[in-house]
Formats: sequence, C-alpha cells, structure tokens
Amino acid sequence: MTMTERELHVSKIERGTVVDHITAGQALNVLRLLDIDGRRGEVVSVAMNVPSERTGSKDVVKVQNRELSQDELDVLSLIAPDATVNIIRAFEVAEKHVVERPERVVGVLSCPNSACITNTDEPVKTRFTVLDDGVRCEFCGTIVREAITDLLSS
Ligand code: CTP
Ligand code: ZN
Repeated sequence: MTMTERELHVSKIERGTVVDHITAGQALNVLRLLDIDGRRGEVVSVAMNVPSERTGSKDVVKVQNRELSQDELDVLSLIAPDATVNIIRAFEVAEKHVVERPERVVGVLSCPNSACITNTDEPVKTRFTVLDDGVRCEFCGTIVREAITDLLSS
C-alpha cells in the first residue's frame, strides 16, 4: 500500500472546504471555533491523529457544500497554526490557503473574567487582541496565554 492510499482515511469531497494539517487532537476545537455542530444538517467528516509526512500526525476536517471565509479561517490559527485550507470545487482543489494569525478576534472567545462587561447583560461582542503568545480582552485587559480553547463560548 502506498503512502497516498494510507493517507486516504476519508473520502474526497465534491464541493466544500477541507481544513488539513490541523494540530493533532484539535479537530473538535476547530469545529467549535467554526460553530459547526451538525445540527444544521452540514455534512462533516473528521479524521483524528492520521499519519502525516510533515508532522507525524494531524487532524483533518471536511465540510461539504460550504466555503469557509478567510476571517473564519484565520481564527483557526490560534489553535492550529499549521492548518491549510483547501476550497474544493468539482472534486478539485480550487484554492489553497494557509491560515494567518489575525490581529483581533471578535465574537468568538469569551472572557474568563466574570466582572468583565462582556459577561454582564450588556449586548457587547467579545473582542480580543491577538498577542504573540496569547490573547488580551480589549474590555478588561485580561490576558490568556494558555488554554485558549477554554475560552470558546458554549
Ligand atoms: N481533498 C478532498 N477532496 C477533494 C480534493 C482534495 O477531500 N476532492 C483533500 C485531500 O484529501 C487533502 C486536501 O484536500 O486532505 C488537500 O488536497 P491536495 O492539495 O490534493 O493534497 P496535498 O497535495 O497532500 O496537500 P498539501 O500539500 O497541502 O499537504
Ligand atoms: Zn474581559
């Protein structure tokens, strides 16, 4: 069996987005970040800890019939900095993007400071500035360096 055959754990898709080279173990967090929970009928395939020539092992997420935007994808860089994003049309890779660290993340993470205005009844979206080694709440200044996935709302 060739390497290519061994790597083919999940069928190719006709149309949609393939997020490849996700840090092993982060696929479910990637789905949480993208707010994909399957409840809207999305067809999603997830492969975890599959062999990768580049990094040893990786996770892969395939979302059919949906083209994720660059903004959605850049948020991924916080938990999967090496991810590549393939837009698939007519079974072919039509576009291939690498994720880039955004300057700020809006409405995706929740602040761990219970006194923060974003945790009151005020209708404000969370806003975090992305630092080299973490994120900082723009409302209360709280910095989170580790466990950024703990900040995913819901
Ligand atoms: N893919 C898919 N359905 C398609 C085409 C591609 O699910 N119709 C998936 C492949 O399985 C792979 C990813 O999209 O996980 C990227 O495809 P491709 O660029 O052909 O693979 P590589 O050359 O290995 O990509 P890279 O160099 O980014 O590792
Ligand atoms: Zn805050």
